[in-house]
This record gives sequence, structure tokens and C-alpha cells, in this order.
Amino acid sequence: MDFKDLCLRRRSHRHFTDEPVSKADIDLIIKAALLSPTSKSRRDWKFVVVTDKEKIFSLSEAKDHAAELLAEAPLAIVVAGRPEENDCWIEDCAVAAVTMQYQAEDLGLGSCWVQMRDRGIGDIAASSIISAFMGLKSDEEVLCVLAIGHKAKELPPLDESQLKYDSVKYI
Ligand SMILES: Cc1cc2nc3c(=O)[nH]c(=O)nc-3n(C[C@H](O)[C@H](O)[C@H](O)COP(=O)(O)O)c2cc1C
Repeated sequence: MDFKDLCLRRRSHRHFTDEPVSKADIDLIIKAALLSPTSKSRRDWKFVVVTDKEKIFSLSEAKDHAAELLAEAPLAIVVAGRPEENDCWIEDCAVAAVTMQYQAEDLGLGSCWVQMRDRGIGDIAASSIISAFMGLKSDEEVLCVLAIGHKAKELPPLDESQLKYDSVKYI
């Protein structure tokens, strides 16, 4: 599959089979993140690979909605950065997260970004909830958690005729 087909096929997957993601696939996904571009080549991010079902379930409860899908995933990757050290931490983490999503898709796996920054439960930030049981450092903040696994079913590609070309300006 070439990259244009990968772009067409990638969808957000929220349902997964019980099959674990192999170590070889996890290694490739993490390698893709570590190869991703960063501002000033800082490479100042943190990725926590979680395969423990109980810990993944705890991640699914770190915000009040739209994280439930994590509970079904055999693999979660917490993506964190250091806001005080890196003024581009959000961009760097986002680029790495999306790169992992495309690598996962290339391996035939499904993935979904679960937003954690500026989310939480009531006044408690999702990032501090996650830090407490993931042992993150006090200066690390969680941008998102990726849910990754074998797709429960294929999803159709987006309808290309509906793509928002009106958001593109050619000059
Ligand atoms: C910044 C960002 C935050 C997102 N947060 C969530 C989330 O918290 N929970 C969720 O189920 N999906 C989340 N998504 C997935 C989007 O809902 C999904 O990308 C969008 O509906 C488009 O669908 P598609 O990815 O299948 O094209 C997020 C995606 C992005 C890029």
C-alpha cells in the first residue's frame, strides 16, 4: 500500500479484537514516533507503552467522556511532553502521535487519538490522574493517549467527494 492509499484507509477505530499487538509491531510504532520531526530537533517527548489491561482501563477513566474506547484496546500509548522546557511540546507530541497512527495503519492495525490535554474529571486534569499511576515526572504533561489494536471491523474510507477543498486557497 502506498502513502496515498494509507491516507485514504486511515480511520479512527474504537473497537478492537482481543488479539494482542505483537512486540515487533509495537517496536515499529515506537520507532516511527522516535523518527518523527521535532522543533529544533529537541526530541523531547515521552511515550509510555501500556499493555496491562488494568492500567489501560484506568486510562479510559482519566476523563469524563470519549475515553471509554481505551478499555477495549490491547495497547495504549501515552504521549507526553514538557511544556516548560519545550515551547513546541504540543506540536512535537502531535506529530509523533499521528506518525504512530499511520505506522499502525500500515501494519493493518486500527488506532484512535484520545485527547487528554485540557480534559479531565471535573477540576482534576487528566494528565495528573495519568501521572499518578504511570509515574510521570512532575514537569511532564500528557497530550493524548493512542488506543491501538486489531480492528474489530474495517471502516469505509471517507467520501472523497466530501473533502473540504474550500478550506484550501491557491494563490
Ligand atoms: C486532536 C484530536 C483529538 C481527538 N480526541 C478524541 C477523543 O478524545 N476520543 C475519541 O473517541 N476520538 C478522538 N479523536 C478522533 C476524532 O474524533 C476523529 O479523528 C474524527 O472523528 C475524524 O474521524 P476519522 O479519524 O475516522 O477520519 C481525536 C482526534 C484528534 C485529531
